[in-house]
Amino acid sequence: MKVFVAGATGALGRQLVPQLVARGHEVVGMTRSASKQDLVRSLGARPVVADALDPDAVAQAVASAEPEAIVHELTALSGPMSMRDARRPERSTAVIMTIRLRTEGTDHLLAAGRAVGARRFVAQSYGAFRFARTGEPVQTEADPLDPDPPAPLRTGVEAILHLERAVTTIEWGEGLALRYGGLYGPGTSISRAPDAVMAGPIRKRRFPIVGDGGGVWSHVHIEDAAAATAIAVERGQPGIYNIVDDDPAPVREWLPVLASALDAKPPRRIPRWLARLAAGETATVMMTEAKGASNAKAKRELGWQPRYASWRQGFAQGLG
Ligand SMILES: NC(=O)c1ccc[n+]([C@@H]2O[C@H](COP(=O)([O-])OP(=O)(O)OC[C@H]3O[C@@H](n4cnc5c(N)ncnc54)[C@H](OP(=O)(O)O)[C@@H]3O)[C@@H](O)[C@H]2O)c1
Repeated sequence: MKVFVAGATGALGRQLVPQLVARGHEVVGMTRSASKQDLVRSLGARPVVADALDPDAVAQAVASAEPEAIVHELTALSGPMSMRDARRPERSTAVIMTIRLRTEGTDHLLAAGRAVGARRFVAQSYGAFRFARTGEPVQTEADPLDPDPPAPLRTGVEAILHLERAVTTIEWGEGLALRYGGLYGPGTSISRAPDAVMAGPIRKRRFPIVGDGGGVWSHVHIEDAAAATAIAVERGQPGIYNIVDDDPAPVREWLPVLASALDAKPPRRIPRWLARLAAGETATVMMTEAKGASNAKAKRELGWQPRYASWRQGFAQGLG
């Protein structure tokens, strides 16, 4: 198949493009920067330069590729996040830009795909911190979303809802939205790289267990997320899929294991009230009330099997 990957140079894209090429697809990879064209070539794809927020540039880039499938992996989340960003995500430049990429960026890619007669569209989504907080610890794609998310998360949640609705209801082709779990491994915020955004605070013991540490998180290794995406390019009914490992777990279980894998001292423990003061309500909810996700549908309908079935094995062997 001819596949157009928007976000070919990102953490996900860099794993995905070689996997698509290995599966026999002809890949065109989009980047904003002329200077990253060699990176795209080194992954095995033909580069095309366009700004995802410029509808004419996107239309032209997609038209030049004449793809049968389009993959949307655009975010602005890989940069550094400050404590201020964690407290007020709605004011963070990375979050504001990602919201634009997930609304306008999605619309431009969909319009371009429709215009060139593409027949499949696969997009990055996420489930974490969106599920109803009153439900079971592990949620499926059919379970309800939080009707009242913490205020700072609201615009981000609306943007990802827009993406999921727009993608999964296209009439000119088949649209799939993949709700990746917390990404870890090479190029992500949880890796051994010195500048890895989440690993840094964990090493400095600035990422504590809050309250009972009962928030349940689902993780997925970046290679496994890319493998699920490559499969979704080829098969699977339109709809939403949780792409997470087999082992949703509360923060109090996985965080000490991750700290140890990063050669850090064990995380500190702080009460909820102190976390609210220091990091704000949103971070506190994430650490204490989050729900995990089930990967049963992705396994059943995509035939996907994560290589790192659990973060227990992945943190030990797959941080890069
Ligand atoms: N994905 C999540 O939900 C999430 C949540 C929290 C943290 N993180 C962390 O953030 C990183 C996310 O990985 P990712 O692969 O999703 O994103 P990424 O590594 O930030 O890659 C983003 C991709 O989007 C492209 N892009 C961004 N703005 C663009 C624009 N205006 N026009 C064209 N292309 C544009 C970039 O291309 P160019 O730069 O080449 O133009 C790049 O290929 C990981 O480190 C992950 O651990 C992710």
